Amino acid sequence: MPEAPVAPRPIEIVPSVLPADFSRLGEECVALEEAGVDRIQWDVMDGRFVPNLTFGPDVIGSVRDLVSVPFEAHLMVEEPDALAARYVDAGCSMLIIHAESTRHLHRSLAAVADLGARPAVALNPSTPVEAVRHVLDLVEMVLVMTVNPGFGGQDYISTMEPKVAELRQLVIAEGLDVDIEVDGGIGPATIAGAAGAGANILVAGSALYRDPEGLAHAVSDLRTRAEAAITDS
Ligand code: DX5
Repeated sequence: MPEAPVAPRPIEIVPSVLPADFSRLGEECVALEEAGVDRIQWDVMDGRFVPNLTFGPDVIGSVRDLVSVPFEAHLMVEEPDALAARYVDAGCSMLIIHAESTRHLHRSLAAVADLGARPAVALNPSTPVEAVRHVLDLVEMVLVMTVNPGFGGQDYISTMEPKVAELRQLVIAEGLDVDIEVDGGIGPATIAGAAGAGANILVAGSALYRDPEGLAHAVSDLRTRAEAAITDS
């Protein structure tokens, strides 16, 4: 009996607030929610894991109650275990831990769940899918970076698409309920490749803010392109 095809997972468009106007961060989050985003990603950078420094938990906490969409913290930090609780307390319901940032990834992800948050794991471009094979049962999402982390506005690394496809096949083979997110260089010209490869959560920063027709158009256009790609795949 041929196996039933696996239904595509719902597409979600997630903004990175890295390109936002930090002097009006609260208003920017409200505008993103009004534009129809599914959640908001905070690119947390410590200047050590990546050469940039961004949001502390207090900054995120200061805008938490202005919107109702979930917050996810993309922890591009050297010591995620030491910081995890503070980002949960700030209102992040999902924590994304880089596989490269902790010696004991299984323990770090279990600790996120113990905090009552949704565990997720991220892979830098050079890190293979194999690095997360034995923690897939602990996570709700795997983030495949499509740029080298640290800055917005970089070019999409299309050679990550086979990696997304490999991960999707592994998740299906294991019968797991795991989303696949991509982040970096996602825009109108690249989103179909990422979604067609198997990503269903798509993070965009620059592409949202450079759309001349505004945020709502950008979100809707990206969602339409991604949904068309999974229909065609
Ligand atoms: C890199 C950041 C960026 C950001 C999205 O560390 O994680 O990928 O979220 O940036 P764009 O969409 O401008 O490439």
